[in-house]
Amino acid sequence: MRLKSLVLTVSVTSALIVSAVLAQSSNGVKAAGKRYLPEYTASGDLILPKHFHEWVYVGSPLTPNALNNGKANFPEFHNVYIEPGSYEIYKKTNEFPEGTIFFKELQLTLPAQPPDGSRTEPSGRGYFPGPFNGGDVTVKDSKRYATTGGWGYYNFNHHEPKAPTATLRPKEECGYCHMASAKKDEVWTQFYPLLDK
Ligand code: HEC
Repeated sequence: MRLKSLVLTVSVTSALIVSAVLAQSSNGVKAAGKRYLPEYTASGDLILPKHFHEWVYVGSPLTPNALNNGKANFPEFHNVYIEPGSYEIYKKTNEFPEGTIFFKELQLTLPAQPPDGSRTEPSGRGYFPGPFNGGDVTVKDSKRYATTGGWGYYNFNHHEPKAPTATLRPKEECGYCHMASAKKDEVWTQFYPLLDK
């Protein structure tokens, strides 16, 4: 009787272990295999990437008006995200894979108290995030964007709501600057510690 219950316990336990291992490995495969790749319209415009707020956040450069003679090109926080499946690959290979998407969402600072454009909140004096204000996107595809070093540049409005689709921007408008001064493969990894390796 005791032996019987021991055998039962052992077999139930091992069944549980087996199913736990199976569950873990199928989750693992799912997480590693799943990527959101760029989607295009029939005419070749880029479709606004889906669920980018759930991507991997890498940093928020800030160039407020008050520090740029009152007229910064982008006075907002620039919240930058990378598509998570591409990030997984980058961590292993140290290269941005084909199909990598970066989303730079612009986010206004809350109304300021002059003269330096900052405001005081319980945490101190500084700049505090307010409403979203459009976004810029880059996509890696060496063939499709061969003339701009393998990256495509898109603007989805500099206001809300973001445009549902965007047309490719010429090199003179975007790519030239990234090609000249971004640290790694046209990405400003110098500002994103998570990617700067
Ligand atoms: C004069 C230089 C310059 C031009 C022109 C420019 N960018 Fe950038 N871009 C930057 C800098 C610097 C950063 C990182 C720091 C920041 O956001 O302030 C950046 C960051 C980005 C990022 C975040 C990912 C990354 O590469 O770091 C995206 C996406 C982006 N730019 C898209 C665009 C698009 C689309 C255009 C054209 C509509 C454009 N950029 C034009 C300088 C430029």
